[in-house]
Amino acid sequence: MATGEAMCINGQSTVSVTRRSYQVVIAATRDMGLGMDMKLPWDLPTDSQFFHDVTTRTTDPTKRNATIMGRKSWESTPLEIRPLPGRLNIVLTKSSCLDIATDENVLVCSSMELALELLATAPYSLSIEKVFVIGGGELLRNYMNAPSCDAIHLTEIDISVPCDAFAPRVDTSLYHPWYSSFPIVENGIRYSFNTYVRRKDTVVGSGEKKSAAGSDFKEYFFLPKMVFERHDEFGYLNLIQNIISSGDMNDNNTLTKFGCQMRFNLRKTFPLLTTKKVLWLGVVEELLQLISGSINPMEKGSNIWDSDEANEYLNRQAESV
Ligand SMILES: NC(=O)c1ccc[n+]([C@@H]2O[C@H](COP(=O)([O-])OP(=O)(O)OC[C@H]3O[C@@H](n4cnc5c(N)ncnc54)[C@H](OP(=O)(O)O)[C@@H]3O)[C@@H](O)[C@H]2O)c1
Repeated sequence: MATGEAMCINGQSTVSVTRRSYQVVIAATRDMGLGMDMKLPWDLPTDSQFFHDVTTRTTDPTKRNATIMGRKSWESTPLEIRPLPGRLNIVLTKSSCLDIATDENVLVCSSMELALELLATAPYSLSIEKVFVIGGGELLRNYMNAPSCDAIHLTEIDISVPCDAFAPRVDTSLYHPWYSSFPIVENGIRYSFNTYVRRKDTVVGSGEKKSAAGSDFKEYFFLPKMVFERHDEFGYLNLIQNIISSGDMNDNNTLTKFGCQMRFNLRKTFPLLTTKKVLWLGVVEELLQLISGSINPMEKGSNIWDSDEANEYLNRQAESV
């Protein structure tokens, strides 16, 4: 549970209040369009499932999550799923005559600050695991790149359609990608799942980058587990775990496993592992050769084509049968 302190000047006295931090979960078009005429201008079941899972799942089964939304987003939610089941629904409105809090799963608040203070106070501080701000545009204009926003889960929909509600763009000077999925296509629409986390990576004075999955990766435990484990670094660590637990011991006393692959999406990030020493210059040289379509990659001293290891492995296996 992440909380933060804020100072409120109240007349002559200074009051310290505790507020919960939150994560934003939205889907937006290329122009950051969110909706049109109070509807989503797309039908993407896998994205709806992602939204459901991210906002509903908890690591502690005795707790649930909270979703904070603007009054118009509440009204635009289909009646069959309103209030969003399994979550505490918090609706923001300035109006005092909005009578929607008859359900025990719904709270109405007159400001984001009050909602975050309420969630930092018992009983919600104990019963609510994560807080998600889910739109719409008016709310996001003020709270998407704000200091209390720890992460942004953005489904990037590769279309340009007319919209009347928009989110701001992710401020990449404040957030960096944690995970970017390979694009999927559904109902003829191409889209991808992306998570950005608030930057904590500049170590003052050293200019070094801290590891995402190294000593300080616990700082990112606030992410939903299903997103946390999608970081590229865990692809590598899981593979190592797999080799240690079920690899074959070869003649050189080395554990091996054949046919394993790691796939990385280079669109947003570069998978420079921080839990393993990587010959960065060599990686870049060989990658540039591949991208440039070099006919003879060996001409610049590359070693990746020295031997056909896959073939050699299969030959060795065949000989040992
Ligand atoms: N693509 C997505 O992921 C996504 C997510 C959510 C929504 N949407 C779409 O977005 C559209 C709705 O967005 P919108 O920008 O029009 O409206 P919105 O942000 O959902 O709601 C605006 C209303 O919320 C209240 N509000 C906003 N900020 C507040 C604050 N700081 N304190 C107190 N109350 C506050 C006000 O209600 P009062 O006027 O009652 O005071 C305001 O009129 C719909 O088309 C919906 O389908 C898309």
